Amino acid sequence: MIDGENVRKRQLPLRWAGIRRLLLCGACLWLTACADDSGAPESDGEAVANAHRSGAAIYQRYCFSCHAAGVAGAPKTGDAEAWSPRMAKGRDALLRSTIDGMTGMPAMGLCFDCSEQELLDAIGHMSGAGQTP
Ligand code: HEC
Repeated sequence: MIDGENVRKRQLPLRWAGIRRLLLCGACLWLTACADDSGAPESDGEAVANAHRSGAAIYQRYCFSCHAAGVAGAPKTGDAEAWSPRMAKGRDALLRSTIDGMTGMPAMGLCFDCSEQELLDAIGHMSGAGQTP
């Protein structure tokens, strides 16, 4: 009898420590779960924003500096006369010269993380057609 009671008394603090550890673990899991929840929509939003940059947005950020004023002979934005001989080359040729660069124009029009579609959309925006060539 006495021996049994002694064993139970010795085990009691151990059991409490175990329960407290369990509660702590639960709290940790709950916190990380919450952190994941609040993080996920934000990163999704960024990915979507990157995937859908419009021609106008690319133009404003990268192409505007030269094409708005026609720096170094760049065809001016919305100037149909300047753009029509360029557009006549066809979309593949325009895309190629934009990616490779030309006299007076750096490669990629300085937008190094642009996709081909984003460059085409920006060209469409500048040429005044309002759509991709
Ligand atoms: C540093 C100035 C500069 C920037 C920035 C710039 N361009 Fe140009 N771009 C030029 C110049 C200059 C020409 C004319 C080159 C020539 O005819 O030799 C040109 C020509 C072009 C052409 C005509 C290509 C052809 O084959 O006739 C396209 C299309 C074009 N740019 C697209 C873009 C796009 C899209 C951007 C932005 C992502 C951009 N450019 C940014 C200077 C620039």
